[in-house]
Amino acid sequence: MHEMEPSGDSRLSEDEQWNSRHVMGNYGARGLCMERGEGVYLYDVRGRRYLDFTAGIAVCALGHAHPQVTATLAEQAGTLIHCSNLYENPQQNRLATRLAELSGLDQAFFCNSGTEANEAAIKLARRYAYLAGQHHRTRIVSLPRAFHGRTLGSLSITPKAAYQEGYWPLLPGCDWASTLAETFDKIDDYTAACFVEVVQGEGGVHPLEAEFLQVIENRCRQVGALLVVDEVQTGVGRTGSFFAFEQVGLHPDVITMAKGLANGVPVGAVLASQEVASAFTPGSHGSTFGGNPLAMAVANTVVDLVANPDFLQHVREVGNYLSTKLQDIGSEVSGLGLMQGMTVPDAKSFVARAAERGVLLTAVGNTRVRFVPPLIVEPQHVDELVQVLAE
Ligand SMILES: Cc1ncc(COP(=O)(O)O)c(C=O)c1O
Repeated sequence: MHEMEPSGDSRLSEDEQWNSRHVMGNYGARGLCMERGEGVYLYDVRGRRYLDFTAGIAVCALGHAHPQVTATLAEQAGTLIHCSNLYENPQQNRLATRLAELSGLDQAFFCNSGTEANEAAIKLARRYAYLAGQHHRTRIVSLPRAFHGRTLGSLSITPKAAYQEGYWPLLPGCDWASTLAETFDKIDDYTAACFVEVVQGEGGVHPLEAEFLQVIENRCRQVGALLVVDEVQTGVGRTGSFFAFEQVGLHPDVITMAKGLANGVPVGAVLASQEVASAFTPGSHGSTFGGNPLAMAVANTVVDLVANPDFLQHVREVGNYLSTKLQDIGSEVSGLGLMQGMTVPDAKSFVARAAERGVLLTAVGNTRVRFVPPLIVEPQHVDELVQVLAE
């Protein structure tokens, strides 16, 4: 066989770096071009350093180029990247066991993103009702301001007109109330599941009251609907506990995860009790890439580090420090742990001006700015952030 010649210098030219003509326009103009990362800093192609309070949208929990993540990636890449779900997968088995211990649930299904995890959870809830002979129980209820993803099923339980526009017809049987208080009445004998987030991240970083969430859980129990807690953004230590539901006294039937789980390697997970999980009988759902050895190995490394009580204590401490500092300079600061939001007159221009001064933030909606740094951030980085924002 013909041996491939090494291609020499693989670096892109300046023109290639900035040429996005053949990339679809759904992300809009992006402006900055990042080349590498280290800890809580990103460096662009011009060598400029940025303090990263986006963490790839609440993904890079351990920061950029974390040595243990890099080592795991390199080792697993040199051993086995992918073999499909036709075969036993020790890394997958280990992660499932670990997540079961941490969540109090029993079994995991692995996929590649948050929206896929929610898609799978919608299917699981419907199929669980179906196999129980409750063929009428198909409705999926979500909350106002919820965000569950962009695939058609997850989009159908994401009540944001701008995201749904033009994609009709969406999945039938999805419903939400216009206020949190009215959600209670939406959950009835026809409801397969109600999806909740403990902190509504994309909705503006709004923590929901524990009492409210508990009322929703009790209502689900009363009518026989499943409670699905979407921990895609809040999970993996982001709020200062491994899962956010632990802080509000919920007992989910199903949990969905993604984002922080493998520090940027695509992964998603659905956790469920044995009884509910049994609805996914052989052949009833699947994913080619889901749970492959590479993603699972990295996720195991991440979970080993983040689930450490000292690490979670660090998230709570720096999270409190961040919240206090933001309250000194901004208004309507809310959040949990290292997931904080603040109200500003114009979020888009605030974020743009911060980037000009070397600090990366994300806007959620028109007037909310979100702070979701890598969880390894230190108080001195918060000081650096606040100094720039105070200008
Ligand atoms: C709570 C929540 N659920 C689901 C998703 C969708 O995840 P993904 O973008 O990985 O599909 C997100 C993404 O922001 C999220 O915050």
